[in-house]
Amino acid sequence: MPVSSLPYSQSCENNKSAIAAVLEQCFNQSSQVLEVGSGTGQHAVFFAKMLPHLLWQTSDQAVNHAGINAWLAQEPSPNLRAPLTLDVSQDWPIALLEKPLIDAIFTANTLHIMSKGMVEDFFTGIGKHLANKGQFCVYGPFNYQGRYSSESNRNFDKWLFEQNPQSAIRDIEWIMALAAKQSMQLVTDYPMPANNRLLHFEKHA
Ligand SMILES: C[S@@+](CC[C@H](N)C(=O)[O-])C[C@H]1O[C@@H](n2cnc3c(N)ncnc32)[C@H](O)[C@@H]1O
Repeated sequence: MPVSSLPYSQSCENNKSAIAAVLEQCFNQSSQVLEVGSGTGQHAVFFAKMLPHLLWQTSDQAVNHAGINAWLAQEPSPNLRAPLTLDVSQDWPIALLEKPLIDAIFTANTLHIMSKGMVEDFFTGIGKHLANKGQFCVYGPFNYQGRYSSESNRNFDKWLFEQNPQSAIRDIEWIMALAAKQSMQLVTDYPMPANNRLLHFEKHA
């Protein structure tokens, strides 16, 4: 794929440095990260370079693989792996991972795209596959007590609904409850640029 036709997300370019700075702390003891919903692949190529102690395993629905592979070909890293087909509502392709232990999971901007049922499936999958004492980091916009944290998030939520009525900015309280059901506790809720958050959970089975 020529460079000019690589899939491109401006928001990934805008947020990647701030996210990497937080992941550096959250994943400092981790060895392998499973990224769910890698999207264009821009985050993966950047984070693999910034966090060379980690094996960075991309994944997404098959429709996004060509773009992710094109970014990986453009900016390879020895610790970066080609995407696995992972739909959170299907069986996860755990047998295809290079290392059997998943001690970290990362996802960005996926929970507001997925339906509520998919988000529930996602947390069930994390509960099943994330190792004890493993880290889970999720980046994106969240509501607090049902309230938008900014006017831009309110407008974004309206736009999401117009694209797909199943999509919506999620309440942090609901996410915390789903996490608690899978033995995960919130370590830190990081404020991020552009009214986003990065939620860092740790699992204690
Ligand atoms: C808005 S994009 C975010 C992509 C990228 N993480 C980013 O921050 O730019 C949402 C991603 O969620 C993925 N996604 C949606 N539903 C999914 C599901 N059921 N299982 C796994 N990934 C899903 C999409 O394929 C897409 O890559």
